[in-house]
Amino acid sequence: MSNQELLKEAIAIKNKAYVPYSKFPVGAALLSRSGKIYTGCNIENAAYPVSCCAERVAIFKAVADGVYDFSEMTVAADTERPVPPCGSCRQVMSEFFDSSMKIHLSNTHEQTKTLTMNELLPFSFQSEDMGERG
Ligand code: THU
Repeated sequence: MSNQELLKEAIAIKNKAYVPYSKFPVGAALLSRSGKIYTGCNIENAAYPVSCCAERVAIFKAVADGVYDFSEMTVAADTERPVPPCGSCRQVMSEFFDSSMKIHLSNTHEQTKTLTMNELLPFSFQSEDMGERG
């Protein structure tokens, strides 16, 4: 699976974003270790805070399908710089992605910046931090 293929999927699902409020569509394509791609777009709501980002939609679709092992993710948006995922998405990513997993962030010119999970969210809160309770 090439980065280009994941980017193509992320751009395709971006066109399905439900964004009547922000008018800012985002697409994400998540590659599972078994080779299946889970895509997500942002889905907004008149009650703004219950909107969900593209990254989380893709991750939640995979998890709802019983899939927890991932190898790469690509995010695409119509931004000048490669789109930076929000803090909530970074925390959700860190629940499921290894610290070395690569996340490709793309912009309107299809220029891509690649960061690892640890670069995207260093010193993240993990279940181990809850000790016996986690
Ligand atoms: N958004 C995403 O879906 N992913 C990101 O990485 C950044 C922000 C969405 C949330 C909201 O629907 C819109 O973009 C504007 O914030």
